[in-house]
Amino acid sequence: MTPKQDQLTGAKRFKTPKTRRDFLGLAAAWSAVVALAMAMLGAMRLPMPSVFPESNSRVKLGTPERYAVGTKQYFPKHRLWLFRDEAGFHAISATCTHLGCIAVRNDDGTFHCPCHGSKFDAIGNVEGGPAPKALVWVQLTVSPEGWLVADTFKEVKQGTVLVV
Ligand code: FES
Repeated sequence: MTPKQDQLTGAKRFKTPKTRRDFLGLAAAWSAVVALAMAMLGAMRLPMPSVFPESNSRVKLGTPERYAVGTKQYFPKHRLWLFRDEAGFHAISATCTHLGCIAVRNDDGTFHCPCHGSKFDAIGNVEGGPAPKALVWVQLTVSPEGWLVADTFKEVKQGTVLVV
């Protein structure tokens, strides 16, 4: 050990704690350092979203064979209507284009929104009320595993059908 190192290790602040008070003082100081470091890590993470909205936009609806021609099925969790007719599959979002309430499908196939009274025809066109545009047609695809998949964030042109 060099004389300088000897001088440093002999200094009071590098001595190992001898008393309970020294030990508690060091423990408190290190706890404060660790807490500060964790707080800084947490603060640095704040600008990053912990949930990515795109991550759950794709919805598996089962295999296409599950739906017979003539199917009209509602998926409440995804606010989505799935239809199968002779032309193929199409899906219409039940989210009202006015302020986002859930439009209800009537027995005659039209939709109405209970919140402010918008009315839509069977393919989602606005027939009345404050809704500024038609109900959204949602993209349907078949995954490589053979699942019917709706992407609720992807709009397709009205009249687009998926032929399976
Ligand atoms: S939210 Fe549907 S009419 Fe207002």
